[in-house]
Amino acid sequence: MIFPDNVMHDFPLCELNTFHMDVSARAYIAVTGIDELEGICRHETLAHMPKLVIGGGSNLLLTGYVDKLVLHMQMKGIFREGEDDEYVYLRAAAGERWQDLVDRCLANGLGGLENLAGIPGTVGAAPVQNIGAYGAELKDCFFSLRAFDFASGKLVEMNRNDCRFSYRDSIFKHEMKDRLVIVDVTFALPKRWTPNIAYGDVARELEKSGISRPSPADIGGVIVKIRRSKLPNPAVLGNAGSFFKNPTVTAEEMASLKRLHPDIPAYEQADGRYRIAAGWLIDRCGWKGRRIGDAGVCETQALVLVNHGRATGAEMVELAGAIEQDVMARFGIRLEPEPVFV
Ligand code: EPU
Repeated sequence: MIFPDNVMHDFPLCELNTFHMDVSARAYIAVTGIDELEGICRHETLAHMPKLVIGGGSNLLLTGYVDKLVLHMQMKGIFREGEDDEYVYLRAAAGERWQDLVDRCLANGLGGLENLAGIPGTVGAAPVQNIGAYGAELKDCFFSLRAFDFASGKLVEMNRNDCRFSYRDSIFKHEMKDRLVIVDVTFALPKRWTPNIAYGDVARELEKSGISRPSPADIGGVIVKIRRSKLPNPAVLGNAGSFFKNPTVTAEEMASLKRLHPDIPAYEQADGRYRIAAGWLIDRCGWKGRRIGDAGVCETQALVLVNHGRATGAEMVELAGAIEQDVMARFGIRLEPEPVFV
């Protein structure tokens, strides 16, 4: 019923990616329901076209013309699915803004997502990289999700194990990358909520505000404030948040790094390895504020690469490559980009 009427050709993507890369896509569809995905699956040509799913476009580096069918997820709705003794279950459609979901929870006194307040992007994109901040990750409150499978033309339900979440990673960045499209996510929000304020900045900011027994909304508010002070607003200066993951090293590697660089910020992990602050490594290599053309390194947080105006994907890739080389030469550490390159 919908095709090919709602397919747009040579569609500009500048407003659909937070880096504001000025490229276009071969074809584009705004997806507002599952029937559209079923329609694409049955369509003679669209079914076989390579696809790119875009939510908020906030973890994406578009390096040139996108010779694909862009599926812009716009499904809406947040529903209370039910509850048991321990949790309240909330289901949110993929196209909802992540912050709108967090705000809805906080307005209703529901805790669990407050440490992830202020993260740009949509609900459907959040599981793809298991978004995380201030000592919390999406997987902590994740219950299940439903995804449309282009191989079978059907919806599949996936639990936490199925999604293979790890640090800024999931099955949706790997085996299921071009096959599954997340349509909604169900969260389990704890009824016996306890604050997670172990992260130094959060505890300090709460103390400064005179809050000793914080509510979920207090924590969400403080975290949004901290993020605003450190991270550039993508509406003003194009960026995709952290451009690199914080790398992990073994305890032995950590010991020798510490001998050479006593002030290197690192955090011990449950498995005895250490996660190192990539922002510090890049900062130490002198990259803060530098640029190649309009592709630059943020002045306030070296982990964030920014588009000063008309940066091209090629410039951004060149800048990232030069940073990776420097960090490797100076510290022997390989940096891995966080956004998805297309
Ligand atoms: N640092 C520097 N120079 C810099 C940047 C950082 O010396 O230019 C040092 C800081 O002083 C601090 C340490 O590095 O000692 C860590 O910095 P910060 O607390 O700002 O956090 P991060 O490790 O750089 C991570 C996440 C962020 C998340 C924050 C807060 C990754 C890749 N990044 O950043 O996530 O908001 O912690 O939890 O894990 C994102 O993924 O897009 C993102 C913004």
